[in-house]
Amino acid sequence: MGQSSVIKFYSGEQIPLELHKVRVVQKLNLKPVDERLQATEASGFNSFLMSTRDVFLDMLTDSGTNAMSDQQISSMLVADDAYAGSQSFDRAKQAVADVFGKKMFLPVHQGRAAEHVIFQALVKPGDVVPMNYHFTTTKAHIEIPGGAIDEIYTDEALKIKSTFPFKGNIDIGKLKALIAKHGADKIPFIRMEASTNLIGGQPFSVENLRQVRAICNEHKIMLLLDASLIGENAYFVKQREPGWQDKSIGEILLTLCDMADLVYFSSRKVSSTRGGGICTNSVELFDKLKDLVILYEGFLTYGGMSVREIEAMAVGLRETQDETCISQSPSFIKYLVETLDAKGVPVITPPGGLGCHVDAGGFLPHVPQSEYPAGALVAAYYIASGVRTMERGTISSVRDANGNDVLADVELMRLAMPRRVFTLSQVKYAADRLIWLYENRNLIGGLKFEFEPAVLRFFLGRLRPTSDWPTKLVAKFKADFGDSL
Ligand code: F0G
Repeated sequence: MGQSSVIKFYSGEQIPLELHKVRVVQKLNLKPVDERLQATEASGFNSFLMSTRDVFLDMLTDSGTNAMSDQQISSMLVADDAYAGSQSFDRAKQAVADVFGKKMFLPVHQGRAAEHVIFQALVKPGDVVPMNYHFTTTKAHIEIPGGAIDEIYTDEALKIKSTFPFKGNIDIGKLKALIAKHGADKIPFIRMEASTNLIGGQPFSVENLRQVRAICNEHKIMLLLDASLIGENAYFVKQREPGWQDKSIGEILLTLCDMADLVYFSSRKVSSTRGGGICTNSVELFDKLKDLVILYEGFLTYGGMSVREIEAMAVGLRETQDETCISQSPSFIKYLVETLDAKGVPVITPPGGLGCHVDAGGFLPHVPQSEYPAGALVAAYYIASGVRTMERGTISSVRDANGNDVLADVELMRLAMPRRVFTLSQVKYAADRLIWLYENRNLIGGLKFEFEPAVLRFFLGRLRPTSDWPTKLVAKFKADFGDSL
């Protein structure tokens, strides 16, 4: 269903095409550079603490910020308001069955709520959960009931520059060794994350999932799939994995989900609305989880979501089968990655889903990891452009038991590309200002914490620069751009 937004141009240019039209718009503010500096200072050099009033392009995340379709918006008008037995739930349940192939469905208010319920029910103290890579909320929710995570990614996964098409694969040899070391009874399940978020939105292959499934069968271990970015993963399978070119996104989605005992998702990502869900064909698993959903989320037919969101989720899930919809963000990301790469800006390759990931370590080799180069780059880029991005590096990790920083595997600045939100000229602007910043990278210094929360510190932490580098950056910007914003 649908066609890819990668259309051949007569000129030979490789640019993605918007296969949608804009019918509702929101005015944006591009503030002058001095005001951008003030806004950075006021937000404690933390992009989570900024107001969108001060933001030009909001590339913080795609979570809850994808553009909804006309079909989604109109579906919200027919929502069936009922505490119990809402027909809106029936429509969402049918969409889950058709798109993910799972008959039983538990709605929850967002992705981490699904993690809370699942891990509380399935993880015991001393358990180890193997996975391709963690997501911040996943790790926290596995550790709360006393479990630990073990990431068994391939050697290619953390290389910034790579041509390996499936950096989200699990290393099968390492998985076998891990099971031999801990014993299958210490492993409640294996978790696979589609379009692995923290390593650059990188997919796994169908073949790799098959191998993981075979190991699960051999050792009687369950397989869980985090499907928050499953549409993009399916798109990359179609693009990159031999034998899948002629299959539809819908067929690939069903193939992937069929291998998992349980699938959960953040609807904020996969179906472009709020909410989330857990689905399975196992009555036993469903029964283990459903009481916790009632306890923490709400009755089984709404799970903390409004019925309007449930309707929009149902439509959004079906749109995940549409290649036109699902290819839009990856094709724009590819354009941005290739534009930056051509200018020497260190970016993760191959381009993945979710966003363009800039290697802050390579961008700012003079800023030690203890001074948070990814956080510093996010602040500097906002000053240079008004574009808000997200730090995914050491600030996003947690300190060890002795209070020392755990240096992240990779220091990344993420330019998220919410689906169908930005135009190509906006993406060109984002690239242009980043290229300017790269040429002036020596002006950028580090950051240190001023206030550091104990839990998920990246959300609410406040930092300050280690020198007056932001002022010098502004002076250089004015020298190069004059009165221009
Ligand atoms: N799993 C993955 C792979 C995610 O990317 C996210 C959220 C979650 C679970 C949690 O879902 O936010 O609905 O509670 N990712 C967002 C991001 C926050 O910006 O990448 P949630």
